[in-house]
This record gives sequence, structure tokens and C-alpha cells, in this order.
Amino acid sequence: MAEGLYTKRNDGRKMDEIRPMSAKVGIVPSADGSASFDTGGTKAIAVVRGPRTLHPQHMQNPKTGILRVSYGMMPFSVEDRIRPGPSRRSEEISKVSEWALSSVVDLSEFPNTVVDVFIQIPQADAGTRVAGINAAAMALAHAGIPMTEMISAIGVGKIDKTLVVDLDKYEDSEYHDGEGSTDIPVVITSRSKKVALLQLDGKISIPELKQCIENAKVACEKILKVQTEALKNINGDNENDK
Ligand code: CDP
Repeated sequence: MAEGLYTKRNDGRKMDEIRPMSAKVGIVPSADGSASFDTGGTKAIAVVRGPRTLHPQHMQNPKTGILRVSYGMMPFSVEDRIRPGPSRRSEEISKVSEWALSSVVDLSEFPNTVVDVFIQIPQADAGTRVAGINAAAMALAHAGIPMTEMISAIGVGKIDKTLVVDLDKYEDSEYHDGEGSTDIPVVITSRSKKVALLQLDGKISIPELKQCIENAKVACEKILKVQTEALKNINGDNENDK
């Protein structure tokens, strides 16, 4: 390997290859909507409750319902135990997931209500916010919440000088050679192909960033197929390694 070049991935994947995915819809019978989305060692569960009247009353919007997202990692989802309860990181991920999902959810038929989305990560190997958004989009569709289109999410980025898709934990935070790694969670809408969320952690040039967004669009097409298949096959398994 030439020094400073990331030419071989940790787990042998091609640079644009997503880890094996699987998705399931209807995993929590008592919920209004529920789904799971797994990619490699990252597992996400999403549960939807609502629309329900929002309390306290002063938070209600008489023109529309609101979406409220809560993201959390389970205490033993990583090697170092995660302290239960909110953290700065979980608050940030809840907010950005809420923004991404709100861009396709239409709650105008449900004034004064709230739709709650609870995202939980039982096992984490990077890319938990994007896996959570994939699960939440399916759970919202399962709950029959009006959506203008679906969304799919993927982590893309750069390791040293090489562009990659779906970084794992080693690539995301343990690879420090050369220029190190840059992680870019991207959310793409299914029909209009708009970017519903983009976060950037690290350094990248504008042409490289444009290429990363193109890579995210290609990956999100594959993720959308897995989500759609799972929605057609409620309560069934759906596995895909592409
Ligand atoms: O999970 P995501 O990539 O959306 O967010 P991140 O903040 O970039 O975290 C990357 C990964 O670091 C997580 O998926 C976990 O595998 C790991 N992590 C951890 O080990 N301990 C934490 N307190 C937070 C994250």
C-alpha cells in the first residue's frame, strides 16, 4: 500500500460498498408504527406513537401537528458503557433526525397534535444516526403518517485521500493515518432526490464533497429498495447485501 493512501478497507469492502443491510417493519405490535434497520454491526429500532393531542397546550400549533424525535444509544451498545439519559450528542442527533424527517412529513391534517418517534440503538458500529433515520422513515410510513416522499440515509466520506461509502467505527474514528477521516451523514429524498440533511465532520474539498453527495445518492437508491421491500413485507424479514 502506498503510504498515505487508503487502498484496502478494514473489512475488505469495495470503497462504494454498503455493509450488509436488513430491514423489518412491524416489530412492536402495540406501536402505531415500528421498524428496524441494520447495517453491519449497527442496529437501529424506531417506534412511532401518534398523532396524539400535544401537552402542554401552549406548545400546540393550531395549523399543524408537530414531529418530535428522540434518539438514544442503549447502555451496552458500544464497548464503553453509555450513560443512560440525554447527552449533548443524543440531543443533537434527535434534532437533526427531526429536521430530516420533518422535510417529508405532512401533519397539516392533524392540528394541535404531536407524532413521537423514538429511535434506539441497541448496537453501534458507526452510522447510527443514518440507520436511525432509515428505521424512522419506515416506521412513520408504517404508522400511516402522510409523507410527501420517503427518505434514505447513508454515511459517506473520505479516509486519507480516498472517498468511501458507509464508514464503520474503525474508519470513522480510529483511522488516523495521512489526512485522517471525514464522516458525512447524508439524507436523500426518494423522489425529488433532494438533500434533506448533510453534516460534515472533518475536512474535504468542494469537488470531493460533490462526489460524496453523488455517492450518497447511489447508495440511497439501494437503501430505498431495502426499505420499500420491508414495507411491502410487514412483519417479515428482508435481507440485502448490496
Ligand atoms: O453513530 P454516528 O456515526 O451517527 O455518530 P458519531 O457521533 O459519529 O459516532 C460514531 C460512532 O462512535 C458510533 O456509531 C458508535 O459506534 C461510536 N460511539 C461510541 O463508541 N461512544 C459514544 N459515546 C458515541 C459514539
